[in-house]
Amino acid sequence: MIRLENVNKTFRGRDGTAVEALRDISLDIAAGEFVAIVGASGCGKSTLLRLVAGLVPTSSGQVMLDNAPVTEPRTDTAMVFQAATLLPWADVLRNVTFPMRLMHRHDTKTDDKARALLATAGLGGFETKLPRELSGGMQQRVAICRALLQEPRVLLMDEPFGALDALTREEMSLELLRLWSTRQMAVIFVTHSISEAILLADRVVVMSPRPGRIAEIIPVGLPRPRAFEQEGTEEFQRCAARIRALIFRGRDANAA
Ligand SMILES: Nc1ncnc2c1ncn2[C@@H]1O[C@H](COP(=O)(O)OP(=O)(O)OP(=O)(O)O)[C@@H](O)[C@H]1O
Ligand SMILES: [Mg+2]
Repeated sequence: MIRLENVNKTFRGRDGTAVEALRDISLDIAAGEFVAIVGASGCGKSTLLRLVAGLVPTSSGQVMLDNAPVTEPRTDTAMVFQAATLLPWADVLRNVTFPMRLMHRHDTKTDDKARALLATAGLGGFETKLPRELSGGMQQRVAICRALLQEPRVLLMDEPFGALDALTREEMSLELLRLWSTRQMAVIFVTHSISEAILLADRVVVMSPRPGRIAEIIPVGLPRPRAFEQEGTEEFQRCAARIRALIFRGRDANAA
């Protein structure tokens, strides 16, 4: 469904210097697949998501969605950014439903669906609050609800749980998996947490930095539905050890 073919991305800085953010990325993601991306800071994870979202063009190579090149943002793709990007003047409910209005998909059921999503995210009763009245973690949960309300075929999540406390993070992970299992939705989920990546994903893409490349793709053999108790299993430990080895190898190679 999503196909990256030999994708390269080089940014030109204002001083004319070039930063090679991604080199020769090839990756296939099936409809309904859950893929996690891990790797050191600066290895191009956010850039990869932006390319798939159609927010930035590749320098060379192609991003394909259903066999058509991605050249601009699409209505069937939703993104949760690393920092919650809410409209400061709109209340929580308006923020969550805003893209639906923009796409002329807002109907009589949209507000009810939004309220239900907010309730599952622990935000019931906050519908009329403004973003500045919420904590950082609450704002991020609003941004997640906004993406899920669009019922996207492709959901791009850039460290969506980074601002949440450990307990809320676990709850939101399980809720995301529950929603994902009821929809045909491909997810690309960027995280710094190795255990989060393993517990959520079908495959974990490990990236190495400078330039950003795919070091290895680890298939996760844990049965679904997933539960945190699986952290104790041999398969979990195998995946975690492999991912750690790859990340540290990248670091050592860069230090040398
Ligand atoms: N708009 C831009 N202009 C210039 N350079 C950029 C731009 N966006 C990203 N870069 C560079 O590309 C590289 C990859 O950045 P990116 O944000 O994709 O990394 P990341 O893996 O998401 O890092 P983090 O884990 O810290 O979020 C970095 O060296 C960064 O400086
Ligand atoms: Mg990033």
